[in-house]
Amino acid sequence: MTPAELIARKRDGHSLSRDEIAFVIRGFTDGSIPEYQMSALAMAIFFQGMEDEETAALTQEMLLSGVRLEWPAGPPIVDKHSTGGVGDKVSLVLAPLLASCGLRVPMISGRGLGPTGGTLDKLEAIPGFRTDLSISEMQDIVERVGCVITGATENLVPADRKLYGLRDVTATVPSIPLITASIMSKKLAESLNALVLDVKCGSGAFMKTRDQAVELANSLVRAGQRMGVRTTALVTDMNQPLGRMCGNAVELDETLDCLAGEGPDDLRYVTLALGAELLVSAERCTDQAAAESLLTDRLDSGAAREVFEQMVVAQGGDLKAGCQVAGEQVVVAERSGFVAKMDTEALGMAVIDLGGGRRRMGDSVDHSVGIDIRAKIGDEVSAGEPLARVFADRKVPAIMSRVSGAIRIGDSQGEWPEFIVERVR
Ligand code: URA
Repeated sequence: MTPAELIARKRDGHSLSRDEIAFVIRGFTDGSIPEYQMSALAMAIFFQGMEDEETAALTQEMLLSGVRLEWPAGPPIVDKHSTGGVGDKVSLVLAPLLASCGLRVPMISGRGLGPTGGTLDKLEAIPGFRTDLSISEMQDIVERVGCVITGATENLVPADRKLYGLRDVTATVPSIPLITASIMSKKLAESLNALVLDVKCGSGAFMKTRDQAVELANSLVRAGQRMGVRTTALVTDMNQPLGRMCGNAVELDETLDCLAGEGPDDLRYVTLALGAELLVSAERCTDQAAAESLLTDRLDSGAAREVFEQMVVAQGGDLKAGCQVAGEQVVVAERSGFVAKMDTEALGMAVIDLGGGRRRMGDSVDHSVGIDIRAKIGDEVSAGEPLARVFADRKVPAIMSRVSGAIRIGDSQGEWPEFIVERVR
């Protein structure tokens, strides 16, 4: 078998066998298959798709390219993965919340690239917080505290790091089998008992339509279940930012509010729903209602906040040193009416232009900037009332007008968006 033969087979719509997929992934990882052939194969997969068996084989081979975490006997190991959204700070609340319910949560997260923010960037707004833990440091903190949130090490799924870099520059990221194998290989490397996926859908998400998001959610759930991990998914709304804050230090502040039993309703609702999926999958609770009641108690009693503080200390952070937030400038409504629609991706891009996110890997991030969305879809506003606050230590008139343009005001109230669009089990 040669790489050119396999590329031709996929180009012509045939399935690849497990051995053929193993040959390609091993060859690409060790450098014997060059990037130009892997790019051609990724494009053939983009157009022809893959059968479930092929996606499972791809996931498994990518997983085998690196190490897998090992855990001593103890409580279930669980995690949540989000496909990424604007203002999505669920991980920061959920990891300590699940740990406060007695589960172990080794959360390996990413940095922001493009309009959706990154969990690691938000945590790095805390002075001293380390996101470059070794595998043994990660394991030690999970055993002591119950949860950790850190970046991937070099030896976790190296095939994905290499392939994702290539897909990024060859326009082959939005392929359901390639996304499935990329996400699931990294999550399976954590040796989980249960996984929940938060597939975002809407103007601020990778998947813009409900159909695309449901298709991805189904593909992810099928791949997880085939690999023996209890996997479920929620498709959640991303037609406006989750919560009010978008940025790094400001999202951390909102996280702390949520961990104090306060904070915005949508953030709390989605966090509790995702957490309940895991408590049921891990057989800690018999049903969704019992799980949500346990989670609510842990959030409102301060137990989850205590775990968060322990995790911050274990990862070298100093919450008392305070996270710097830049000065505020107010964007006001130009007319009266109801917030009808948001261009959420434009809001995410506005955070990048403030310096709070990256256009390219390696760009530096200003943790102090951000946006506070004061009026959400369905809210009534009067002309001159605040629509948003922009946090920046310089005048940013172009960004202020982009934020104003991204929040559309109409004449009628319309429907309140549903926080959870679909459940996939
Ligand atoms: N996130 C990932 O980790 N991989 C993808 O392919 C897309 C989003």
